[in-house]
Amino acid sequence: MRNGRAVLVTGAGGFIGHHLVKYLVKRGYIVRGVDIKAPEYETTDADEFVIADLRNYAECIRATKNIDEVYQLAADMGGIGYISSSHADITINNTLINAHTLHAARENGVKRFLFSSSACIYPQYLQKKPDVVPLREEDAFPAEPEEGYGLEKLYMEKLCQYFTEDWGFATRVVRFHNVYGPLGTYDGGREKAPAAICRKVSLLANHSEIEVWGDGKQTRSFMYIDDCLEGIYRIMQSDYSAPLNLGTDELVTVDDLVDIVCDIAGKTLVKRHDTSRPQGVRGRNSDNSRLRSVLGWEPKTPLRVGLVPTYQWIDACIVGQLHQPVETAAE
Ligand code: NAD
Ligand code: GDD
Repeated sequence: MRNGRAVLVTGAGGFIGHHLVKYLVKRGYIVRGVDIKAPEYETTDADEFVIADLRNYAECIRATKNIDEVYQLAADMGGIGYISSSHADITINNTLINAHTLHAARENGVKRFLFSSSACIYPQYLQKKPDVVPLREEDAFPAEPEEGYGLEKLYMEKLCQYFTEDWGFATRVVRFHNVYGPLGTYDGGREKAPAAICRKVSLLANHSEIEVWGDGKQTRSFMYIDDCLEGIYRIMQSDYSAPLNLGTDELVTVDDLVDIVCDIAGKTLVKRHDTSRPQGVRGRNSDNSRLRSVLGWEPKTPLRVGLVPTYQWIDACIVGQLHQPVETAAE
C-alpha cells in the first residue's frame, strides 16, 4: 500500500542507495532513484530511475522536483585505497554534487534532506592507536579530517546546519562507519576491507597466502547494511538535525576480520602483511551514546553474523563469473 509520499534517493545505483530504494518501496514510498549509472548487480525497484549527473545544477533541479524527502547518497567514494589516492577528483565531484543537490532541494520546496556524512570527518589526531577511544559527535572540532573526502563531508555538514539555521530548511546528517553487506563493490579498486577480504578469501586455495594491507593490528567497527538502512530511516523520521554517528561499537582488528571470513569460508590462509599499502587511521570506533539517546536504538548485527551473507554473495558472484579475476599476491 502506497503512502503517497515521494522520496528521492541519490546514488541509487550504488551500494547503500540501491538497498535503500528497496527498503523505502517496501514501506510504501513512491521512490525516484538518480545516479550516473544503473545498479550493477540487480535491477532497481524504484518507481522511476533517472540517469543524471548531479554535479550539474539543472539536473539537480529536475531530480528534486515534486519530491517530499531527499536521501542524499550520491558521492565519488570508495575504500581507503581509493579515497587516499584521488583527492582532487573526490573533492571537486562531491562538492558539486552535494552543494547543488542541497540548493536545488530547497529551491523545489523539499521538506527534509538527509546527508550521508562519514566517520572520515573525525580528527586524525584522535585515531592514532588501535585501542582507540570511541568517537563522539562533539569530537569533530578542532578539525583534522581525512584529506579530500573527509574535509568535503565536514564542510557539507556545516552547509546543512547553515541551511537549517538561516532558512529553516530541515536537514539530517548521518556519519556512517564502514558499511558492508551483499551487493557492495568487491573489486575494481573502490572496495572496502570487508568486501576486499571476502573476495581474496573466495579466490584463494586453502593454505595459500593472503595479502593484508598494513600490519593487521589496525582497528575498525563495521556496520551491516540492514542496520544502516534502519538507522537512516529512523534518523530521517526523527526531529534531530545535528550530526549523528551510525555504526556499531564492535571494535575488531583487520586481522580479526580476516580470521572471521576465513572461518566462514572454511579455509586456513597464511597472512602476508603489506605495510606499503594504504591503511588510513590506526583505530576507529563509534561512540553510540547520542544515537541511543536520540533514537532509543542502535545497530546490533554482530560482524560474524553480517559477514555470512556478505561472503556467500561475493563467493557466488566470483564462482558465477565466466572470466574470474586472477588473484595475485600484489592485489
Ligand atoms: P557507492 O559508491 O556504492 O554509491 C555512490 C553512488 O553515487 C554510485 O552509484 C555513484 O555512481 C553515484 N554517483 C557518483 N557521482 C555521481 C554524480 N555525479 N551524479 C549522480 N550520481 C553519482 O557508495 P555507498 O557505499 O553506497 O555510499 C553512499 C553514501 O554513503 C556516500 O555518500 C558515501 O560517501 C557515504 N558513506 C558510505 C560509507 C560506506 O562504508 N559505504 C561510509 C561512510 C560514508
Ligand atoms: N580496502 C582494503 N582492501 N582495505 C584493506 C585490505 C584490502 O585488501 N586489507 C587490509 N585493509 C585495511 C586497510 O589498510 C585499512 O586499514 C582497513 O582495512 C579499512 O580499510 P577500508 O575499509 O578500505 O577503509 P577505512 O575504514 O579506512 O575507511 C572507509 O570507511 C569510512 C567510514 O568509516 C572508507 O570507505 C571511507 O570512504 C568511509 O568514509
